[in-house]
Amino acid sequence: MNMNDLQQDLAAFWMPFTANRQFKQAPRLLAEAKGMFYKTPDGREVLDACAGLWCVAAGHSREEIVRAVQEQVARLDFAPTFQMGHPLAFETASRLAAITPPGMNRVFFTNSGSESVDSALKIALAYHRARGEGTRTRLIGRERGYHGVNFGGMSVGGIPGNRKTFGGSMLPGVDHMPATHDLKRNAFSRGQPAHGAEFADELERLVALHDASNIAAVIVEPLAGSTGVLVPPKGYLQRLREICDKHGILLIFDEVICGFGRLGGAFAYDAFGVKPDLMTLAKAINNATVPMGAVVARQEVHDAIVNGAAEGAMEFMHGYTYSAHPLACAAANATLALYERDGLFARAGSLAPMFEEGAHSLKGTKNLVDIRNFGLVAAFEMAPRPGAPGKRGYEAMVKCFEAGMLVRVTGDTVAVSPPLIIEPAQIERIFATLSKVLASID
Ligand SMILES: Cc1ncc(COP(=O)(O)O)c(C=O)c1O
Repeated sequence: MNMNDLQQDLAAFWMPFTANRQFKQAPRLLAEAKGMFYKTPDGREVLDACAGLWCVAAGHSREEIVRAVQEQVARLDFAPTFQMGHPLAFETASRLAAITPPGMNRVFFTNSGSESVDSALKIALAYHRARGEGTRTRLIGRERGYHGVNFGGMSVGGIPGNRKTFGGSMLPGVDHMPATHDLKRNAFSRGQPAHGAEFADELERLVALHDASNIAAVIVEPLAGSTGVLVPPKGYLQRLREICDKHGILLIFDEVICGFGRLGGAFAYDAFGVKPDLMTLAKAINNATVPMGAVVARQEVHDAIVNGAAEGAMEFMHGYTYSAHPLACAAANATLALYERDGLFARAGSLAPMFEEGAHSLKGTKNLVDIRNFGLVAAFEMAPRPGAPGKRGYEAMVKCFEAGMLVRVTGDTVAVSPPLIIEPAQIERIFATLSKVLASID
């Protein structure tokens, strides 16, 4: 195929979060995947150092999951979950409730992280209203937070580039706390940085400004992923929890990236010991095999809404045609069984010290201003090239791909978050490749 034909073939797909024209000049295509590796159409192997998009936690095309989906599509391709049910959906919810923090045991299904976030925000509003506190409508997010791309998630999110174009159409009544990133005090911290618990006190300032009676919920990623891997400072999440408790504000953890072993335990609760009121899930919920997300609620939150409605009334007017889609549930049940059978969350925890060593061995590499890590995630922040922010990061991503490795880049930060099945030799390979690539960037 010549270049003209190829570009013609690529024209119709308007790609998400992609520099479309640049990509289509020099496309990077993935055609197959198995275990830890992708394969390009010309047969080149690419080590998946970022679990697809932080989502393929059990590795690619696992036989148990493939089989479960194949069998399910032949048995029951679709069934509505509005005023009807199918058995797999209840099984998936129960399986999730068995591994989520104690007391968080009511599961609302969605199809993506963005939908989970908007659903959680609506649950928070419905909860307060059901309890007769309908004035609690303000939502508080955080600068540099990423909560997907729907209007709610974009509004509580704090990524300037994602917000700029839609500035006038944000949800009203949203505030942001500052990001916890503090290079001056915390650069090259291993695990949780020592400084910055006091960033949570900004919530007290917002409560003083608006009054708690007007505030519904605070949403944060326990560890911010997409925005460049910002690990919560020691004591920060605890302090957020205390302030929320003091003022009756719901705390939402967006665990779309953190959940399912990434931090070395099932969820952020297992890693940091802080329990939210609502958590949003997606991605690794079913190893990203079929689009799926979920909101998990504390039972009290669910009960306030469900038991507060009149008998026979629909209690929460919200849902998606594909909530608890049978194929997504089949994939989730097989995935959750696999995580348990192979002890993958614990495996991530036991590999974490080696991963940390490997990551921090790059200290001293040209242009690096920070290395951050926790569990099986690490990030390498480069100083921006003067006048060209993001260029070094982009070059690093392209060079890694050429060297046979997929990484994720945000601005000038390179992130790695491999499937939890990674072998020690592959961890070494990730950091050896990165070391070479980063050293080669001007
Ligand atoms: C923390 C967080 N929330 C929400 C989302 C959005 O998820 P999705 O792309 O599935 O809508 C993401 C995606 O990366 C995420 O990292």
